[in-house]
Amino acid sequence: MGREPPPRRGGRGGASGRRGGATQRRRHALRRRRRRGAPGPRLAGELPRARPAHGAAALPDQAARRHRRPHHPGEPGGLMIPLARPWTTEAEEAAVLRVLRSGWLAAGPEVAALEAGFAERTGRAHGIAVSSGTAALELVLQALDVGPGDEVLCPALTWPSPAHAIARLGARAVLVDVDPEDWNGAPEAFAAARTPATRAAIAIDQFGNPVRAAALRAALGDLPLVEDAACALGSSFADGAPCGSLGVAACFSLHPRKVITCGEGGVVVTDDGDLAERLRVLRNHGQRAPGAFTSPGANLRLSDVNAAIANAQLARLDAILDARRTHAEALRARLGAHYRLQLGPAGSRPNHQTLGALLPPGRDREMFIAAAAERGVQVGRLSYAVDRLGQVGDQGPLPNARALDERGVAFPLFPTMTIDEREKVADVLEAIA
Ligand SMILES: Cc1ncc(COP(=O)(O)O)c(C=O)c1O
Repeated sequence: MGREPPPRRGGRGGASGRRGGATQRRRHALRRRRRRGAPGPRLAGELPRARPAHGAAALPDQAARRHRRPHHPGEPGGLMIPLARPWTTEAEEAAVLRVLRSGWLAAGPEVAALEAGFAERTGRAHGIAVSSGTAALELVLQALDVGPGDEVLCPALTWPSPAHAIARLGARAVLVDVDPEDWNGAPEAFAAARTPATRAAIAIDQFGNPVRAAALRAALGDLPLVEDAACALGSSFADGAPCGSLGVAACFSLHPRKVITCGEGGVVVTDDGDLAERLRVLRNHGQRAPGAFTSPGANLRLSDVNAAIANAQLARLDAILDARRTHAEALRARLGAHYRLQLGPAGSRPNHQTLGALLPPGRDREMFIAAAAERGVQVGRLSYAVDRLGQVGDQGPLPNARALDERGVAFPLFPTMTIDEREKVADVLEAIA
């Protein structure tokens, strides 16, 4: 068998067969210039260079200008305003570097600080950091001994995590319809769905909009209530108590669409010391002490690298919330006359994690989304009626969840939005309403 010719270093060497050729020489020259610090144009097939993140002191407006935004193909040179844009600064970069240089990357002091920070923000005694908001829900239900034969009440409109967590433990998710105004599980619907088999209920502050906490407590009595506050960090109920303070435990998510993020992560908060201890064991292979395994368990811990990013964001939470609220109020003032927006219980304070709207009956959502995209504004589907996804079975009429599933949309809203971007979002959404 003949030997293969040696691979050409430059890939396509050009018709002359010379190693490199003009293109290759150009590439080398550009790379040499780059190494000396000169930016130079992009090479064919090369990904855009990452830009340095904006500084900790950058205002949201400056920060947004420094972010790379997706190119919008509809408008030559135009930019698509995205639904969300994570806001990271030099504080997050420094925090990661600190952890890397510490030599301790697994759960350590940063995780402990994050747990303490969430407990403090929510007025709870304990925080338990885990690998995602979904893991948080699953572990809490497991720690409450939810299992086969049990029913757990859950709002019908949601990202599927809470319903899936119930199903994965072998229990039955009993879906309750949402209120047509606040889009949260209606307390009356929770009360009506309760049976002798009901073991627990999950209440969701949907899109950061606080539930009617007092009415829920009254409707559920002694039933263990878990608050899915995945989207609700920084929101508060009508009585001023922070979201995350309701029920036996509350679960937060640190996903990039949430108010603070470290890529992936979650935190449980609770006042119950025994429950906190069970959660710590369950997230750690079912290991109570080194080598003492009490149940088969997964590794659902958070690393110190992630926790350090989340801590840097938690330290700026008030600034993040202020920016979100400023943008949300301005957008709601312009869009309220054209769209049915989510409304909160009187006196409550949402964090505006998502700015959602219900399109009128008959309006084609895909065409609406395409019309916004053509004008440079990303609009997304709002959420899901979980019974339609196929994992928890068909569950009778759930008309409000169904309407929001079919006609719900999410509009761009993020703290680093510029005023120009905000005005463009409002102009476009008014024009296509
Ligand atoms: C209401 C709700 N619960 C739970 C989750 C799950 O969080 P995570 O993505 O961190 O697993 C989400 C995520 O979007 C959510 O919206």
